[in-house]
Amino acid sequence: MINIANRYGNVQEYYFSHKLREVAQLNAAGRSIINLGIGSPDMAPPQEAVEALCAAAQQDSGHGYQNYKGTPALRQAFSDWYANFYAVTLDPETEVLPLMGSKEGITYISNAYLNEGDEVLVPNPGYPAYAAATRVAGGVVRHYDLREESGWLPDLEDLHRQDLRKVKLMWVNYPHMPTGAKASKAALSQLVDFAERNDILLCHDNPYSFILNDKPESILSVKGVSEHVLELNSLSKSHNMAGWRVGMLAGHSKHISNVLIAKSNVDSGMFLGIQQAAIEALKQPQEWYDKLNARYAERRTFAWQLLDALDCTYSTEQVGLFVWGRTRGDVAVGQLVDELLYEAGVFITPGFIFGSNGDRYIRVSLCADTDQLQTALERIKAFKKTKIKLT
Ligand SMILES: Cc1ncc(COP(=O)(O)O)c(C=O)c1O
Repeated sequence: MINIANRYGNVQEYYFSHKLREVAQLNAAGRSIINLGIGSPDMAPPQEAVEALCAAAQQDSGHGYQNYKGTPALRQAFSDWYANFYAVTLDPETEVLPLMGSKEGITYISNAYLNEGDEVLVPNPGYPAYAAATRVAGGVVRHYDLREESGWLPDLEDLHRQDLRKVKLMWVNYPHMPTGAKASKAALSQLVDFAERNDILLCHDNPYSFILNDKPESILSVKGVSEHVLELNSLSKSHNMAGWRVGMLAGHSKHISNVLIAKSNVDSGMFLGIQQAAIEALKQPQEWYDKLNARYAERRTFAWQLLDALDCTYSTEQVGLFVWGRTRGDVAVGQLVDELLYEAGVFITPGFIFGSNGDRYIRVSLCADTDQLQTALERIKAFKKTKIKLT
């Protein structure tokens, strides 16, 4: 018997990996499912980025393996982006590491730092990759609670009272996915203090700061680059480039070197054309983000109506690429999501995939145009009418 390695024994296939297969099967059977599940931007990347990629692909040179650390020009572009939009100074030579998306960074950080049995503070609810990467690296997941009544911010006093001696890493993510909660500068500052006091490496995952958010914040703006803080960022959402796989890690040179050890033993650099395209994307002025957000704001009004139709409550202060709604107490969320998929032809993400504190919630993605959202709304209203008739 050839079995999967023990390290994957308590890690499941990623939810969307199997659920989207189900959606594809329904579509193949003639249904046209409206996918409001995953946060994969459907709008075009900046034109300059597309042109840079095409131009690079036409060249005879530049098709070989690339530098594991990315080109100096790309690192400089990331550093300029941080200076312009977050007022953070990063040395492009030592404090920036381009990545193929920020998701791989979660794995590389975990592999670079966790020894067997090291504990990791992981948000509940939160992005599932933090727990999966921890377990695969041999670490132990210690969930910390985020609750609506506390603005989805961790209770640091409660954490502080616990025995944290085995905790080596802590994952935080603001604007928070899936809840859309923001953290103020003061809250980010408390997180940094907490990490310093407990000698924990605080890893801030920051892919949503430009979406429906007036003022993007970096945790590195609290005290600058330091031994206790790392930040992941990404062009997936901010520049509609999720499939291009471009992200970055920013932080202390020691951490960048350590993560590079993990990374350079896995991949062999990012295609030069994608790096050149990313440089163009990072040069976009404020208007790029404003235009993008005008579209998302329009979509969000439909998403709110959709949640109203499902009798959900939600905060209109949320930021990021999703709207997170609380279902009525008597609703079985898993059943609702399956009924919406199979009967109404609308795919929405159940909150429980993000942890037990998401049990009562659903998440609606804004990565569908207003026509699709309008149709989804009509389908849901019709579905509700049939349900009422049947009961
Ligand atoms: C919180 C969070 N972090 C990281 C990622 C991964 O982004 P990337 O495309 O940069 O790998 C996602 C993607 O949905 C996310 O929601």
